[in-house]
Amino acid sequence: MKLAINFVRSNFPQLQDDPQFVFCASAAGSYLAQPVIDSLEHYNRHLRVQPYSPYPSSRAAGLAMDRAREGWSRALNIGADELTIGPSSSINSYVMAQALGADWGPGDEIVVTQQDHESNHGVWRRKAEAQGAVVKEWPIDPSTGLLDPGELYPLLGERTRWVFFTHCSNIIGTVNPVAEIVAGIRQRSGAKVCVDAVAYAPHHIPDVKALDVDMYLFSLYKVFGPHQGLMYLRAELQESIQAQSHFFIQGDSHKRFNPAGPQHAQVAACQGVLDYFAALHRHHGGSESESATAMLQSVHALTAAHEARLAAPMVDYLDHAPQVRLLGKTHVRDGDRSTTIAFQPLGKSAADVAKALQARDIGVEHGHFYAHRLMTGLGIDPADGVVRISLVHYNSVAEVDRILAALDQALI
Ligand SMILES: Cc1ncc(COP(=O)(O)O)c(C=O)c1O
Repeated sequence: MKLAINFVRSNFPQLQDDPQFVFCASAAGSYLAQPVIDSLEHYNRHLRVQPYSPYPSSRAAGLAMDRAREGWSRALNIGADELTIGPSSSINSYVMAQALGADWGPGDEIVVTQQDHESNHGVWRRKAEAQGAVVKEWPIDPSTGLLDPGELYPLLGERTRWVFFTHCSNIIGTVNPVAEIVAGIRQRSGAKVCVDAVAYAPHHIPDVKALDVDMYLFSLYKVFGPHQGLMYLRAELQESIQAQSHFFIQGDSHKRFNPAGPQHAQVAACQGVLDYFAALHRHHGGSESESATAMLQSVHALTAAHEARLAAPMVDYLDHAPQVRLLGKTHVRDGDRSTTIAFQPLGKSAADVAKALQARDIGVEHGHFYAHRLMTGLGIDPADGVVRISLVHYNSVAEVDRILAALDQALI
């Protein structure tokens, strides 16, 4: 069965605003699905009170927030107490750097990568250095930007406390085999593992328990939802890590690592993303009685096949275009190449190519996208960076044709 792209697109009102415009910058923040817009509107119109008091609007507000938290816990196959919903992944990792780093000291080691967005690198590095711990870096292949697990394992030892890496780079677009890497880490050290899934989750919401990670972060504003960061922290670790909330609410697992406090309407609207996926599931004949994880896996089977149809011609075109250096894998046949596709123009600046595409109604961006260290490792000037075309399941094959035609002109 093929993804019903017209049904998908009808769920994203912003796609109807300007039919000429091809939005291909979703990796920076996606359009909102209709159920998310409905939820935000409903909450702000009817439930805008302090939640969890016994009067009707307050009770309903609390229930809406609980529904979202429970829905996402089920979707990720984690315990309700293992989920923190904070303002963004950058602030979640910043808070966790204070929490985890509090007991790092001389003799301790952490590993970060050269591929990550700065939010899963700089905060850990800065905290470790301040505590006198050693920071080791898992380097990229300087020609492709890919990470080889064989380069990670020699960095591990009995002093390694945490390893931080990404599920999928927001530039390279190749999915790292998380479960396999985690198993490799566990064989070699007692280190805990944190994975940044911000660039992965828009394409696939995983069963987090199956990945065996200790911490896992992603941002719902890139997954068709409100501006919130979701964070899993393994239950067994919660008590041993220094809480970051006020002393009198530290027993509340939802607030322990969220000193900002919950953003009520936004938290409630997180459920809208799951409601959208459920509607997509039903539209394709899916059963209402399936578990959330099973529902998401069926939906992703459809969206992944559709995304592969979008990525294949784009990757092929850029791989064969003499005027560009395509980053990451040059084919999609391994099934691990997402629709985040970046290239370095060879004869022109990335800024000029992006401008030429934008003039043709192609909504791309250029720059380092906060993966500054990756740019440097690839020998690319971060000030100009790369052109990034990021597509998600609501993009169509016709739009890819439009992008390729525009590239023909923009690269001349
Ligand atoms: C791969 C990756 N990690 C982390 C982040 C930071 O997420 P947030 O904007 O929620 O702080 C981003 C944002 O672009 C990202 O692309």
